[in-house]
Amino acid sequence: MRRPLVVGNWKMNLTTREAAALVESFKKAVEILDRTDIVVCPPYISLPCVHACLKGTNIKLGAQDVFWMEKGAYTGQVSASMLEDVGVTHCLVGHSETRGRFGKLEVSETTLCYFAETDETVNLKVRRLLYCGMTPILCVGETLGEREAGRTDQVVRDQLSDGLAGLDEAELHPLVVAYEPVWAIGTGHTCDTAEAQRVCAMIRAFMCGISSELAASTRVLYGGSVKSSNARDLFAQPDIDGGLVGGASLDAYEFKDIVMSAR
Ligand code: PGA
Repeated sequence: MRRPLVVGNWKMNLTTREAAALVESFKKAVEILDRTDIVVCPPYISLPCVHACLKGTNIKLGAQDVFWMEKGAYTGQVSASMLEDVGVTHCLVGHSETRGRFGKLEVSETTLCYFAETDETVNLKVRRLLYCGMTPILCVGETLGEREAGRTDQVVRDQLSDGLAGLDEAELHPLVVAYEPVWAIGTGHTCDTAEAQRVCAMIRAFMCGISSELAASTRVLYGGSVKSSNARDLFAQPDIDGGLVGGASLDAYEFKDIVMSAR
């Protein structure tokens, strides 16, 4: 039996003070929910403060990214052990925004490469997190162009096989996968429920290729314009075990309603 999981990705939003206020307003409402796992992913700078606010609750702390080396001359980067040190247990990896696959941003393609995320760096990050005993939340999903070209399944399968390369069943046990079609992120265009279920089932079938036990235990989330109005339908699908929520996680009441939908 897989426990539902709802993850709030705050992206580059909220000052430390605003982050603390947001946690204070939703934690009371959600802490009685003991059948759903909840993770919030604030910007790096707010992690210690949010960790302190979450003390005594069952809400876990996540990071939005990580660098795969332990320490050294990697300006601007943060290692898994540094995250662990401030109470982080979960970490997003390969979000379409760190892959530079924004739905819409008025800069050139080369500027987007600034983020420099590839399936190979995703793989290094997943490995590092697992090595440190943390839970990677591996994000996969196609762009609109890839969907229109009929390449959705291939793109998702390639991201999975490259992102998880060299890892075996025992190592992959903590992994969470989030299916996030890039065209649905922050656009208000949620993926059709049946289609989201179909792709999440395909992700589970991929995991089954590693082992049937892993396929049965791996939580697969849907992300991309999840709101309280569509969460119930999405989370009721047999292969969708919860959601990765961006914009709607910045509103305490909306996020609480989404978490309630995952029971
Ligand atoms: P959204 O973002 O809910 O704002 O679409 C989801 C995500 O990017 O994780």
